[in-house]
Amino acid sequence: MLSFESKFAKSGTPSMRLKLLFCLILISVEVLAASPEAVYGRGGMVSSRSTLASAAGIEMMKQGGNAVDAAVATAFALAVTYPSAGNIGGGGFAVIRFPSGEVITLDHREKAPAKAHRDMYLDKDGNVIEGLSRNSLLASGVPGSVDGLLTLLETHGTLSRKVVMAPAIRFAEKGFVINWYMARSLGRVRPRMAAHAASIEKFSIAGELLQDGDVWRQPDLAKTLKAISRHGRKGFYEGKVADLIVAEMERGGGIISHEDLKSYESVWRQPVHGTYRGYDIWSMGPPSSGGALIVQMLNMLEVHDIGAMGWGSADAVHLMIEAERRAYADRAEHLGDPDFVDVPLAMLMDKNYAQTRFSDFDADKATDSNNIYPGKAGKAESLETTHFSVMDASGMMVSLTTTLNSSYGSKIVVPGTGILLNNEMDDFSVKPNTENQFQLMGREANAVEPGKRMLSSMSPTIVTKDNQPVLVTGSPGGGTIITTTLQVILNIVDHKMTIEDAVSMPRFHHQWKPNSIFHERFAFSPDTKLALEAKGHINFVESKWGRGIGDANSILYRDGVIQGVKDPRADGTAVGF
Ligand code: DON
Repeated sequence: MLSFESKFAKSGTPSMRLKLLFCLILISVEVLAASPEAVYGRGGMVSSRSTLASAAGIEMMKQGGNAVDAAVATAFALAVTYPSAGNIGGGGFAVIRFPSGEVITLDHREKAPAKAHRDMYLDKDGNVIEGLSRNSLLASGVPGSVDGLLTLLETHGTLSRKVVMAPAIRFAEKGFVINWYMARSLGRVRPRMAAHAASIEKFSIAGELLQDGDVWRQPDLAKTLKAISRHGRKGFYEGKVADLIVAEMERGGGIISHEDLKSYESVWRQPVHGTYRGYDIWSMGPPSSGGALIVQMLNMLEVHDIGAMGWGSADAVHLMIEAERRAYADRAEHLGDPDFVDVPLAMLMDKNYAQTRFSDFDADKATDSNNIYPGKAGKAESLETTHFSVMDASGMMVSLTTTLNSSYGSKIVVPGTGILLNNEMDDFSVKPNTENQFQLMGREANAVEPGKRMLSSMSPTIVTKDNQPVLVTGSPGGGTIITTTLQVILNIVDHKMTIEDAVSMPRFHHQWKPNSIFHERFAFSPDTKLALEAKGHINFVESKWGRGIGDANSILYRDGVIQGVKDPRADGTAVGF
């Protein structure tokens, strides 16, 4: 199979490959591999973590659908073909740009159930009960993905639910071939699923762990997707599927009720908008912190000539770290669900505020983050979210990031539904000034409250210039999502890179606390590291071997051509025509 996969990746012209891809999709099961090379087209493009999901999006455009139809098809397909993060049991954010230039955003983030309360993860002495907000039925927020995707389709799509959900149903029913990436991921998560019979069953064939080359079918998930296809949101939030979710909650100490499910609604929010060197930056506002922080950091950086400093130079890295340190400190203090707390968004994104905030920047010296926390190397828990980018021929663009939070969420599959539940509740500040799994600190603004949305870092972003499309980007990666997205933007705007280089170049991340520089293996040359240490930077923490920072599946529009690229750090493909 490997030889087939590499032949597929390299053979023929892009359009020949696309035809081959569709032939493969239409015959029984799918056998496809990733290609990291950029794909060029004028008709449309989808770049996602799953080759099949990207192809599902393109299938919609080939049937006359627009970028929203493609995005919805891709997202439902990801729930089948990329189960560690693609989901119907989680939530996400979408940023959409219309050909007119108008940008809108849809928040379909999970909500805390009505019975949630501030101290629900603490013991009687007020200490955090380890794992409760991550590995239990109490870890799940009320899922938002199904409502969000159907809302997108109904308001801005052109195709029917039946057509748009067909690829996902086909992949679940007929199956697809497990590749090496997925087999490795399933092997890693298996011990953490051991306590949940329905989870083990979903990811097995006759009780045996799925291996690469196996054809994997998901009959329960196919049934659930068909119920959604037939009955719309009621197929998930009411009726049999809802009964099964609530029954599982009641069996295992969870608190999501019928009423929580029935009353879930995604919310249209004002996009966050900033400018940077003549480009317009459109991103997700609260309850994501992503857009606000990206705009704030760009505002701090704008008065410095990063391009002239050079990519990877100690001066540019120092400047970026200092901006990140300040922005993430603001995140911990000010950001939360705007339906519950006053987020001083205008202040945070104001250019004058950024300059005041950055006025103590010293080009020669690192600032102290209080030095309380030593850097901690990557934890055993693998973390996953997924971002995909879509653009059609009309200039409509969709940037969508979706998540179960941890890889495979809570690891709990609701029996009879094939649905993996999220563990998004851990994104709340379960106790003030306590780190979550991403070592992000939170305070009052992000405390648990019934019906509240937990603070996110997801940053689906669109960049335009003179009202013309430029870039669709975003990433998974917990707190690193924001700095990954920032680096892709800087690589395009300041360093004038190709889209392949912009997403491939090594990355680094600082989030104020812990005071450590998390970085990929080749992010800093030895002499750059020495120069950074000379400025006072400490605690360099290298990402685990084989684990990059982020997965920024992006699209660049340049000279009338749509260029899609799959981040080479992980599986998947950009597919275009
Ligand atoms: O919303 C957030 O910020 C997190 N739940 C995202 C989780 C994530 O990116 C894990 N992935 N790599």
